[in-house]
Parts: sequence; structure tokens; C-alpha cells
Amino acid sequence: LHRYPAIAAEQLKEALALRWGVGVENIGLGAGSVEVASQLIHAATDPGDGVMFAWRSFEAYPILSTVAGAVPQPVPLTADGGHDLAAMAAAITPRTRVVFLCNPNNPTGTVLTASAVDDFLEKVPSHVLVVIDEAYVHFNRHPDTAIGMELFRRYPNVAVLHTFSKAYGLAGLRLGYAVGPRQLIETLGKVAVPFAVTALAQAAGIASLEAEDELRERIDALVAERRRVFAGMLDAGLPVLPSEANFLWLAAGADTERLARLFEDSALSVRAFPGEGLRISLGTPEANDRVLSTARTAASLLAPQH
Ligand SMILES: Cc1ncc(COP(=O)(O)O)c(C=O)c1O
Repeated sequence: LHRYPAIAAEQLKEALALRWGVGVENIGLGAGSVEVASQLIHAATDPGDGVMFAWRSFEAYPILSTVAGAVPQPVPLTADGGHDLAAMAAAITPRTRVVFLCNPNNPTGTVLTASAVDDFLEKVPSHVLVVIDEAYVHFNRHPDTAIGMELFRRYPNVAVLHTFSKAYGLAGLRLGYAVGPRQLIETLGKVAVPFAVTALAQAAGIASLEAEDELRERIDALVAERRRVFAGMLDAGLPVLPSEANFLWLAAGADTERLARLFEDSALSVRAFPGEGLRISLGTPEANDRVLSTARTAASLLAPQH
């Protein structure tokens, strides 16, 4: 580790190109996909241009946009926690340059269907870059989901974001990538911080791509736990949404902070968005058991008010 990493990370790019059947020139790397998202915004916008995303979604979208000098264009989610693609298409202005679609969505776990995204892409002007953020793609078992790589192959203005932080379990090493059109990826290289992808992250990425069987087992176990915890919360009468990610969303509205305190009192770290809801990540079976027993207590405390 006293040596600098390979600046172009050729081996990792080759492994990813092979994995997805794309060219190495279609792959841009970063220190986590959040860094690649930042590169995408810098590459595609001038100061004052618009960056659109559903809201609520990944917290970094508005922050990265503002830091890059762009203007965030949040479009509210539908009542059931999904992207409102009709409203998003209608909200595109002449200044909009980038649209993020988060599939499954963080924090609601909802999925964008293939037909809905196709309809949307037909309406989006071709100079607008559409980024399909698939940070949680490995956990997505929805039969009709949009698939980023297929969209990249069919539309010249689509890029896909993937990360090694979630299913691969390498969040602390910081490794993510975009698959996109050659010209865009070339520009990402120009705005990227040199050597941001460490030698250790590159080696871990290559090794992880060779461990697909182990990955599959891990994902299967998580999906089984997701079904169990979802069913338990539903049974308890809590307002939980079906999720295709590695977390569940409790649409608790005005009760959010009260519920958050209950979880915290049980030594469970959950993400609360006051007035909106709670995102609860799935953990070990033991941790999930504790989530369920807390959920039952929460439901019995809330019940008299509803
Ligand atoms: C939707 C989404 N995209 C991207 C990221 C960034 O992950 P990383 O930078 O660790 O790859 C996250 C992390 O929470 C996320 O939720």
C-alpha cells in the first residue's frame, strides 16, 4: 500500500466490462457511487443547470447538485412512495440536464417498472442525461422492474450507477461505478479526483466479482429476512411498504419521532425523517427479531390514537 494505485484501474474495469458485456470505455469508477454521482453532475451541468430527482430519495442528490453549482429539482413521490414519472417528465425545463431515477428508491424501497421508465425515456429530450441509480439492485426481485443495463443499451442518454457498498458489503472501502456512453465516461475521467479509487478497493472489487455464489447466498438470506420482517410488521398493523431493497419504510407520518424513540430505546439505529417516516435496515436475524418485538410494542402504543 506504499505504492499508488493503478490510475486507470484497468484490471477492475476489464472485470466489470466482462461482467456486463460492455466496453472498458463504458465504465467510470469512483470512491463509492456517491463520488461517481458527483462526477456525473459536474460532467453534465453548467452553473445554474437543473438536476432532477424524486423526493424523498437519496439525500446526496440535492447536496451534490448544489455543491456543483447546479439547481436541485425535487419532484414529490406519489402517495405510495414511488417516483411520479408523469410529474417528473412535465417538470423538465430547458435548463434540466440530469435526472436521477433511484431503483429501488432509498428510503421507500419502491420499484420503477420497465414500462413506466420506457414511457418516461420517450418523453425526455435526448440532451438530458438520465442516471438509473441501482445501488440496491441486487436485492430487487420485482418481476417487472426496469433494468438499468438494458436501458443503457437502448438509450444513448442513459447511464447506470452501481456500488460495492451494499450487497457486496464493501461500504468502508469506497468503490462504485457508472456504466454509460463512451463520451460521457471520458468526461467523468476529466472531473474525477485522481487516485480516489484505492489499490485495496480495486483488488477487493475484482475478488468480489469472482465470488458471485457467496453473494447470491447472502442476498437470498436477506430477501428471506425482508419477507419475514415485512409480514411481521404488517401483522402488527404498522404502515410498512413492500420493499425491494435491504431496508423497510414505515410511513409513520406524524408518529415518526415517537416511533424513532421507541426503536432507539431498544438500541436499534433507524433513520427517521420527521413528519414522513422511518427507514429500518435489515440486519442479522437477532437484530430483526428485536425490530419485530419493538414494532409490536410500537403498534400497541400507537393503536389508541388511530
Ligand atoms: C441510492 C443510493 N445511491 C448511491 C449511494 C452511495 O453509496 P456509495 O457511495 O457507498 O456507493 C447510496 C448510499 O446510501 C444510495 O442509497
